[in-house]
Amino acid sequence: MLNTYVNSIFLIQMNYKAALNSPIFSIISKSAKALNVDAYVIGGFVRDFILKRGTAKDIDIVAIGSGIELAKEVAKNLPNSPKVQVFKTYGTAMLRYNDIEIEFVGARRESYTEDSRNPKVESGTLTDDQNRRDFTINALALNLDNTRFGDLLDPFNGIEDLEKGVLVTPLDPDITFSDDPLRMLRAIRFASQLNFYIDKTTLAAITKNSSRIKIITNERIVTEINKILSSSKPSLGFLLLEETGLLQYILPELSALKGIDEIEGQKHKDNFYHSLEVVDNIAKHTDNVWLRWAALLHDIGKAPTKKFNKKIGWTFHAHEFEGSKMVYHLFKRLKMPLNDKMKYVQKLVLMSSRPIVLANDIVTDSAVRRLVFDAGDYVDDLMTLCEADITTKNPKKFSKYHNNFKIVREKIIEVEARDQVRNFQPPITGEDIMKLFNLKPSREIGVIKDKIKEAILEGEISNNYDEAYQLMINEGKKLGLKLNS
Ligand code: CTP
Repeated sequence: MLNTYVNSIFLIQMNYKAALNSPIFSIISKSAKALNVDAYVIGGFVRDFILKRGTAKDIDIVAIGSGIELAKEVAKNLPNSPKVQVFKTYGTAMLRYNDIEIEFVGARRESYTEDSRNPKVESGTLTDDQNRRDFTINALALNLDNTRFGDLLDPFNGIEDLEKGVLVTPLDPDITFSDDPLRMLRAIRFASQLNFYIDKTTLAAITKNSSRIKIITNERIVTEINKILSSSKPSLGFLLLEETGLLQYILPELSALKGIDEIEGQKHKDNFYHSLEVVDNIAKHTDNVWLRWAALLHDIGKAPTKKFNKKIGWTFHAHEFEGSKMVYHLFKRLKMPLNDKMKYVQKLVLMSSRPIVLANDIVTDSAVRRLVFDAGDYVDDLMTLCEADITTKNPKKFSKYHNNFKIVREKIIEVEARDQVRNFQPPITGEDIMKLFNLKPSREIGVIKDKIKEAILEGEISNNYDEAYQLMINEGKKLGLKLNS
């Protein structure tokens, strides 16, 4: 046992030196020496090195002294003397080195007030600083002193927790979370990203403190939700959000989908779990976080539209329309961008049932043309969403739907090649119509344009100028219009 311990320490030492191969660490080490302060790499960089999670995008340095002074000294010693950004209120400073953000902070003791994230800060020792970190796996530090370069400082057995795959707070979790409630979301985000579990006491404290999430800004909340959504199995995170009660504060539209109602022996499915299954399915096929958002939200309109009808059972009439309106309100509430990304999610939610109808039926060319016309550039993503939406446990239905979607996808390519309706521009413009019939802007122009569009989508005429021109003459005549002589 002792041997194993010694061996693992030995290995750990070897490994950690390798973490500090980049020349930046010796520059920081030299700079710290010049200022006569101790400096350590801490947090995510160390954690991700052990977990072999790819190259770091940021590095956190803690100085036992002024982080700002150390940052300035490091900048002086770097070849291009990069700009140091100083955040006086927080006592931190940041500089960029080869696209990596390096953040410097003086070791601190922090205490927070009840109603704010802004801490009261005093200087402290490295242990004080490690104490105030969120999780044991994020409190690991590597010494940058040249005589102990790469030595690990792990007062809370963070290494062991990394091995076990557990998230646990260094201090009493009630203190850690009430100090900074964002950490409750971070726990769940890390659990989802790393496929870790949350220690029982830590989890109980999240449940207990969940309402404190209200003091956290929406931007920070969205950052964490996006990280959960971007993980390989997002349901892990959303189930934890639900279990701890956080979900009702941050995404009440999803909480509202939970549950199965039964009237006269008729049940509907639990749309919360269904939505999570859809997100997990889509995560296997796309990294596009907005498409994952669409999967998460595709059924949110079902809660407000749910009705029971004695003859047909449960209905969710026009839930896609309701859902797409809710997307706007949800994005607005969370201060997410109300731009083309929001419109993309809205459109996918609005159209989320369209291909399903096709998959139930014989797939006709005209139905596919209409789908391509309405979905435009989003048609492929819409198909990916609908395929992910197949969560039936009936194997016959499962393969029938998938086969039909395969046919739809093939037809989309075929129809596209022939009719080019994806970003449909009618071959006849309003001006053509006005010129031919000597018209001023009027209702008739819209009627004729519409007839041409419908005829093309229905496959009655091809999408070309000559056939559309002939139809324009015929439709004009029907409206009693005279050709311009
Ligand atoms: N930290 C903390 N409490 C927070 C945020 C951060 O204790 N609410 C500490 C942790 O020690 C964390 C370090 O600050 O490791 C750096 O934070 P950050 O860069 O936000 O997160 P990382 O842990 O690096 O993870 P990621 O880059 O995936 O966000």
